Amino acid sequence: GAPVEVDVSKVEPGQLIRVEWRGKPVWIVRRPQEVLDALPKHDDQLRDPASEQPQQPGYAQNGYRSIKPELFVAVGLCTHLGCSPTYLPDTFGEQVQGVSSGFFCPCHGSKFDMAGRVFQSVPAPLNLVIPPYYYVNDATILVG
Ligand code: FES
Repeated sequence: GAPVEVDVSKVEPGQLIRVEWRGKPVWIVRRPQEVLDALPKHDDQLRDPASEQPQQPGYAQNGYRSIKPELFVAVGLCTHLGCSPTYLPDTFGEQVQGVSSGFFCPCHGSKFDMAGRVFQSVPAPLNLVIPPYYYVNDATILVG
């Protein structure tokens, strides 16, 4: 599949947009500062908080899992059996382990935080996949 160019300049804080790349959904989320600040607070509840798993871009191997902290780019498929998790911008966490937002997979209940990092004690084995992408300029990324 061809790379996909995406204008990210209009993505509002907290908003998630979807594009398709190689037949897969790719999510782009603009994370507000308070979401970024909250990420390290639940590291001890995650399988792989520093995202050390191999076979992903180097820029995904840290707590933000992104090139620029504010813009999260991920393949929107659960790493268990490939359902598409639901984005819960602010209600997720009050009920779930103190996390204020994230992604919930309706198929078997896997939970991921706002960096796509998987929680312990759910079926999904790995953090969400980060696709190859880069910034063409401040307003534009190229996925693929
Ligand atoms: Fe997501 Fe099973 S496919 S939890």
